[in-house]
Amino acid sequence: MAQDLQALPGRDYLSSADLDAAGTSALLRLAAGIKSGRLRPQAAGRVLGLIFRKASTRTRVSFTVAMARLGGQTIDLNPQVTQVGRGEPVADTARVLSRYVDALAIRTFGQDELADYAHWASVPVINALTDLEHPCQALADYLTLQEAFGADPDDLAGLTMAYVGDGNNVAHSLLLAGALLGVHVRIGCPEGFAPDGGVLERARTLADGRCRLEVVHDPVAAVRGAQALYTDVWASMGQEDEQQQRLRAFEGWCLNEDLLAEADPRAIVLHCLPAHRGEEISAGAIEGASSRVFDQAENRLHVQQALLAVVLGVVD
Ligand code: CP
Ligand code: NVA
Repeated sequence: MAQDLQALPGRDYLSSADLDAAGTSALLRLAAGIKSGRLRPQAAGRVLGLIFRKASTRTRVSFTVAMARLGGQTIDLNPQVTQVGRGEPVADTARVLSRYVDALAIRTFGQDELADYAHWASVPVINALTDLEHPCQALADYLTLQEAFGADPDDLAGLTMAYVGDGNNVAHSLLLAGALLGVHVRIGCPEGFAPDGGVLERARTLADGRCRLEVVHDPVAAVRGAQALYTDVWASMGQEDEQQQRLRAFEGWCLNEDLLAEADPRAIVLHCLPAHRGEEISAGAIEGASSRVFDQAENRLHVQQALLAVVLGVVD
């Protein structure tokens, strides 16, 4: 396992594509081992800094608890209470913080700002969500799919993940991580809301023909026969001004019981949360027997504990 993860200790995890196929599978195996209690990596005395320029419940709390379970600590470097919020340059902030903490988890807007932190920091930087990607989320999503359909990440190959909604950060990381795991990923979205072309191309290169990565503009075609139905908000953080216009554009794209009836009868329902019942997902779909959204949220903790153990170099 450690051999497949060799690329990562001391390194950044800015994108789902920062691990290769073997590394992604190994990380999911480590997370499952941690979740079961079989593996207990320790990082006593290590400190994780959290710089979050956007709101967060799951990511903030799961990183904090993950670090505590490793025996380490977290410092909340909220921009409002540090000089980050007053415009201290990233180059200075990253170099200073690297003298104090052992890793940084950063939630911000531009992927370029995250890359800037990673460039200047001498400690590992983890993407805790940008406008472009949400790689920690995708790890939890595929661990949840694995729990429903197999015993090992290898069992994911050939399954279909159908994402209906906005071709956003969550969709991007699902495409990239899915490509690495051999999962067919179908993105169903209205015209004008497709995932970024560069991300799709990169995902197809990573997939190397092992799985199909498709974009369709019909919700039923997107979900037909799929093993997982996934959605996310129609207006992401930073797009609040577009809320009304997006509500109109996404009419008919609610993940509901009618769509679920078109999927594989064993299909699970996923949502990264927070959810808007009656908009991108129906109350029946999120609360129904097929929903795994709270397992999915829990799995953030396990995958991030595994990721921290790897970047901190405490996995044997
Ligand atoms: N899914 C997710 O990242 O949730 P938070 O925004 O609450 O962290
Ligand atoms: N796409 C959403 C995900 C929230 C976890 C956003 O960026 O706001």
